[in-house]
Order: sequence, then structure tokens, then C-alpha cells
Amino acid sequence: MESIAVVVPKKKAEQLRKKLMEKGALRTDLQVGSDSKNVYFPIKINVDLGYELVTRSFRELKQLPTDYRDLLDMPDELETLLPSSLDIIGHVAIVRLSDELRKHRKKIGRAIAKVNKPVKTVCLDSGVRGEERTRDLEIIYGSSDTLTSYREHGLVFSVDPRTMFFSPRLATERKLVADQVRNGERVFDMFAGVGPFTILIAKTHSPEMVYACDINEVAFQLLKENIELNKVTEVVKPFLGDVREIYSEIPPVHRIIMNLPHSAFDFLDIACEMLLDGGIIHLYDIMAEDELEDRIDAISCKISELGRSVENIDSRMVKSYSPTLRYYGFDISLK
Ligand SMILES: C[S@@+](CC[C@H](N)C(=O)[O-])C[C@H]1O[C@@H](n2cnc3c(N)ncnc32)[C@H](O)[C@@H]1O
Repeated sequence: MESIAVVVPKKKAEQLRKKLMEKGALRTDLQVGSDSKNVYFPIKINVDLGYELVTRSFRELKQLPTDYRDLLDMPDELETLLPSSLDIIGHVAIVRLSDELRKHRKKIGRAIAKVNKPVKTVCLDSGVRGEERTRDLEIIYGSSDTLTSYREHGLVFSVDPRTMFFSPRLATERKLVADQVRNGERVFDMFAGVGPFTILIAKTHSPEMVYACDINEVAFQLLKENIELNKVTEVVKPFLGDVREIYSEIPPVHRIIMNLPHSAFDFLDIACEMLLDGGIIHLYDIMAEDELEDRIDAISCKISELGRSVENIDSRMVKSYSPTLRYYGFDISLK
């Protein structure tokens, strides 16, 4: 294909390529040309950088789509329902589809894997359920092996999204909480899963100890593996079982993480018993926006009934959960 091009001596080519990129002038759909002396950069807008301009023929570059939706040929009314975002945990992609799209799930799975290089398995997500908060996942493309390795904040986690809870969408929240931890704190991660809060705190801050509990045996095995993998065995003590049966083995703490939306509220009695004066509880819950103020009041009342006083409650929307529900984080400091 013909294009206008800037002719540059080979020695100056890299410098000029950078300038053209900065100006948004370089054509990325054509392959840069060269001969023994010069490099020919195809450009989309005429720029005067002090070099000769010529018109010449270039080889076209194949543009690979980066959005799986570009690979699908669907009726217009279904195309608009295709989700723009999905979760990728190591080699596993997780997507939610509306009822209308479910019968096309296999070809959607194939398209997702095609544009996302590391993805070997695509799962259809029908929601989180049960005490262990596992996802109901159906494999719609690729191998049934969902045990994978995931990197977050420079740490590595073994995770199996089919048999335990894990959400990469909480990465920013985990950092926000970890960054509040002061030197020498004792922290209790009540519902630790495979340890993303626990291990980030243990690795990037200087707590005296992080206690981490989970009732899901498979998650607990990977929690132990992740503690080893990230070399934090000296500062993390993992516990397997129901926190109600375990908390008496743990000394009073300065900070408690309660990431068990829908139920964390029911464990506030344990948190109030274990938290030192001036300590902080990070509690997560899911609700509609207009329920937020009532929930803050309910937390405050419950803590008073349990014989402790609230100093302050900060809340923030962590992420969207569904069209009507939001995932909220509450930082509750006790006097
Ligand atoms: C929403 S997940 C959070 C996991 C982890 N904190 C994270 O951010 O990935 C909640 C976890 O609590 C665990 N769990 C539920 N009830 C529990 C209980 N009574 N005692 C201890 N762990 C419990 C589940 O097995 C699950 O792994």
C-alpha cells in the first residue's frame, strides 16, 4: 500500500521513531521500510522534522483484534449485551453472561481465549455461593485444570477459582488496607482465603504477626503454599476452621479484616472481643447505595450493644457488584 513517509539515515532512525510516536504521526498498520542507508517511516500526518518526505509502497501489517467482541459475529441485539470486562486469574478467564448470551457461550469462550494470550481456560460465572463463597463456574473453553498462578503487587499466589473465592478486582482495596498497617501491629485476617490481604501485609509492612483463618480446606492448603512461596512464614500464622472455634487461640489484635460480605456483620462480636482499644476493623458488605447510611447506623448500634464504643466509621465503594448492588468497605475504629 502507498503512503507518505519520512526518510531518515539509519543512525537517526530510533530517535525519529520516538518523535513520530510522541506526535501520533507514525502509521502502525504498515511495516517500516529500509534500504542500505535509510529507514522509511510511513506517516499519517505531514510533520516537518527536517527530513525528506517521499511516497512509497509499504507492506501491510496484520492487525490482531485485542477485544474478543471483534471476533464474534452476533446479531446486533446480542452484541450490545456482550460484557466489556472479564476477570483473568493466571491462565483462567472468568466471564458473566446474560441468559440471552448463554447459548453462545462456547464461541464466546473461544473468542476470549483467542485474544488473551495467557488464557487456556474460560469459565462462565453463575455467581458466588455457600459458606465458602466459591464461584459456580462452568468451563466453556479449554482444559479443566483451573489451578493457576496469579501475580498481584509483585507477589505470587496459587489459586483455584473453582474451589475457593478469589477476586482480582480487590487488588486496589488490599493495597489500601495494607498501607494502613503500622510497624509492630498484630493483624487478624478472619476470612483469609488464599491470603491476598495477609501476605501483602506480611510482605510489604512490618507487623508483629498476621493471623489468617479460613474454613475452606482447599483454600487453606493454598494459603499455606502461598505463605511459603512469598517467604513470610515468620510473620504469618494460618488456621484452618471456623473462626468461632479458633479465635480464642489468637491474642488481642490491633487490626481485623472481615472480608465476608453478607455475613461479616454476624461476626462483629468476635471482632469486638479481640480488638485492642484504638484498633481498626475493615469490614466488607454488599448493598444498594441507598442502604449505606442505615448499614453504618446498624454497625454502630451493634458495636455499642456489644459493649464497645465506635470512634469513627469511614465507608467507600470498592467496586460494583451488580447493576443495583455495590461492594462497600468500612473502616471502623474503636475507642
Ligand atoms: C469472600 S472470601 C474472602 C477471601 C480473601 N479474604 C480474599 O480477599 O480473597 C471469604 C472467605 O471466608 C471463608 N469463611 C466463610 N465462613 C468462615 C468461617 N466461619 N470461618 C472462617 N472462614 C470462613 C470462606 O471459605 C472464604 O474463603
